[in-house]
Amino acid sequence: MSTTTDRTSTPTVARTQVPRTRQAPATSPPVRRRQRRKWLDRLGWYELVGVASASTTRQVAGLFLGTSASPTSPAGVFIGKEQFTGWPFFHDVFQAYRDKVISSPNVLVVGDIGAGKSSFIKTWAVLRQLTLGRRVVVIDKKRQQVGTSVGGAPIAAGEYTPLARALGVAPIRFVLGTGSAGCRINVLDPAIAGTKDTGGASQLLLLRAVLGEALGREVRPMEGKALRVAHKAAVSTARQQGRVATIVDVVAHLDDPTPTSLEFVPSRVSLQMLAEWGQEAAAELERMISEDLAGLIDGPTSPEVSLTGGLTVFDISALPDDGPAVPIVMAIVNSWLRAVLDNQHSTVPTVFVAEEGWHLVDGTFAKVTRRNQKIARGEALMNVTALQHVSDVPAGSPAIATIQESETVVLFRQGKEEDAARCVEWFNLPRSCKDTLLDLPQGTALVKIGTKKPVIVTHVRSAWETAITDTDEAMHSVATVALHAQGQGS
Ligand SMILES: Nc1ncnc2c1ncn2[C@@H]1O[C@H](COP(=O)(O)OP(=O)(O)OP(=O)(O)O)[C@@H](O)[C@H]1O
Ligand SMILES: [Mg+2]
Repeated sequence: MSTTTDRTSTPTVARTQVPRTRQAPATSPPVRRRQRRKWLDRLGWYELVGVASASTTRQVAGLFLGTSASPTSPAGVFIGKEQFTGWPFFHDVFQAYRDKVISSPNVLVVGDIGAGKSSFIKTWAVLRQLTLGRRVVVIDKKRQQVGTSVGGAPIAAGEYTPLARALGVAPIRFVLGTGSAGCRINVLDPAIAGTKDTGGASQLLLLRAVLGEALGREVRPMEGKALRVAHKAAVSTARQQGRVATIVDVVAHLDDPTPTSLEFVPSRVSLQMLAEWGQEAAAELERMISEDLAGLIDGPTSPEVSLTGGLTVFDISALPDDGPAVPIVMAIVNSWLRAVLDNQHSTVPTVFVAEEGWHLVDGTFAKVTRRNQKIARGEALMNVTALQHVSDVPAGSPAIATIQESETVVLFRQGKEEDAARCVEWFNLPRSCKDTLLDLPQGTALVKIGTKKPVIVTHVRSAWETAITDTDEAMHSVATVALHAQGQGS
């Protein structure tokens, strides 16, 4: 910093404006004034000169009164208010990619329970994207009270149900159990695997992942071969019968290969050899399809399952947390989305939201989804994932690479020091951000976009958005229960 002074003043005191001559105050005793000398004046002796004075950036900032620049370009999707300046904050992944601000369209949202992650995703990544004519596909894992029946009983469904209903969209609901009201998807449906040459490979990749889950171990080479042959034989036989094959046909061909199977193997391979290779696989697949996945993938795809609208919500909140059902449905939906994007005539920017999408990057199905994620940029696909605690991700997990690949990172409040410290480390944040993360109020986040400096943004929702993104219905309930069940007590 530098200020100015003249050479008649004390050189150690810096002043911004110094008069050339000074009048003594009326009350002061008369002072002898030094005369200006003309030749010194001509040489500029009495001109103001700059004197350096050390200061800090924070102090100097006080001199720049009332000026600040917008923290973002207005060409984007509204998020909320930047905390310090109050400016509106916009960010659009597709626009930022075009502007070369980011090179990955993937988005990660992190925050403690109830910090505001879902409300943010439902507005910024879903509702506001739909207004731009984009395609949004949601895998809805979290069960929530979404209303009450006529008799006052709570009705539970996926937390995106109120949002979907408000837009006139019926979520696609998966429920375990044959004869349940839930939907079914056929792993071998051409709509899922795509009709291009890669379609067969996608189906086989999915089948292998399902088999790996059923066996609880890696698929052995000969089992893999038997599965490949059974898949081809099942598709070919079903085509001759004028229908679409299902996984039940694959199990049947694995268990009891037919002469059709021999068309897909060298002549030295016999039906007996094929049956031996596929025996255990057939038994385990059959068990899993009829027990762990009952009613989910054992028949033709239900007619209401379609990805043609702007918004598709897959409600998997009724599926058990443990077991293969959730990862299998997630992997199928992921493959399906990939096929839809592959076959579209013009590229519609698409948002894929899987809030608790860790099955997508870890476990048996990671291979399926990582393969699909590679197409993200080529197909204008923005993957949005949410996570409560970064310390939940095990060391060495492939999920870490996926997390760090995200170039739009939205960090809500973290309750634990170790989580806040890990966020600072993983996302290359200034160290002071650790305390900021621990103190953020509900609905406010630290937003880091590409290599830009992080900014604190308060997420702003309209009254309508607030009504359909609220997740507190159960917590606000004032319903009561009698101390004793009716008929008990006196
Ligand atoms: N921007 C906001 N302003 C004010 N309140 C908010 C805001 N965002 C969220 N909330 C409040 O916080 C509650 C919880 O929000 P939300 O469901 O988005 O949290 P979450 O982080 O997804 O929680 P969980 O980890 O349990 O899924 C909402 O019901 C709402 O009342
Ligand atoms: Mg949530």
